[in-house]
Amino acid sequence: MRDTKDTPPVVALDNAEIVYDRTFLAVQGVSLEAHRGEIVALLGPNGAGKSTILKMISGIGRTERGEVTRGSVSFEGEEVTNDKANKMVGRGVTHILEGRRVFEDLTVEENLRCGLYREGRRLRSHKDDYEIAFEYFPQLEDLLDVNAGYTSGGEQQMLVIARALIHRPNLLLLDEPSLGLAPQLVEDIFETMREINREEDITMIIADQNAKETLQIADHGYVLEGGQIELSGPAAELTDREEIKEFYLGGGSDSDESQYSDVRHYKIRKRYN
Ligand SMILES: Nc1ncnc2c1ncn2[C@@H]1O[C@H](COP(=O)(O)OP(=O)(O)O)[C@@H](O)[C@H]1O
Ligand SMILES: [Mg+2]
Repeated sequence: MRDTKDTPPVVALDNAEIVYDRTFLAVQGVSLEAHRGEIVALLGPNGAGKSTILKMISGIGRTERGEVTRGSVSFEGEEVTNDKANKMVGRGVTHILEGRRVFEDLTVEENLRCGLYREGRRLRSHKDDYEIAFEYFPQLEDLLDVNAGYTSGGEQQMLVIARALIHRPNLLLLDEPSLGLAPQLVEDIFETMREINREEDITMIIADQNAKETLQIADHGYVLEGGQIELSGPAAELTDREEIKEFYLGGGSDSDESQYSDVRHYKIRKRYN
């Protein structure tokens, strides 16, 4: 998928350093790219810096006193380092935050309707605005009158993706979409995300701790640890890497998990000292 054409990447970080509160260094020397039509996976353990990177791309990080203090962020060839969220929304960047933020007291339909507005303006006036949502998540059509707070975790995840789709984004950032969902559901939702990516030509960056499922639909992946990129490459290659198997895909050839956990911990530490 990664092309050599001279169109610039949809989004690129060049040697980016991200600091919170002018004191806390969260991300260091990170360079990454997402090209048009790609799904890019941001992997790594809790605290690695995945969400921070998404937030600085969408501009939301600014509201948490996050700042790119070195390097740059560019969007379709234009430098957008530290631009505010409203500017990024205007460029077609939609960020689905971690934790499935639905309006629990509103119905599924009312939640979807929120997707029809951008900066207070109605996006389109078709009555089949939701068509794109139902095309990929037909389950939602039966739940239109149900309060979103009463729907399952999987349905809420579908709802937030569907709501984002109504925006017709150019770039969709997804933070931990698999968190807390049953494995089969993760597979189904990820498969649908792949279809959306291909059919609607929406570039996606997915930050997720579930390396296995994310790499299955991704074109390219970056593994972060301690705010730095530890590994990167085409998704298929990363899936085959021993380190990935060992640390993120539930063990390599060893069968006794507990016996080897100390060894793994040691190996991870060793690579950073
Ligand atoms: N709003 C914030 N203010 C200060 N530090 C933060 C903030 N958000 C995250 N961090 C810190 O930045 C580092 C990276 O966090 P994060 O990007 O959330 O990692 P991940 O998404 O990979 O779990 C962590 O050490 C975390 O504690
Ligand atoms: Mg996170």
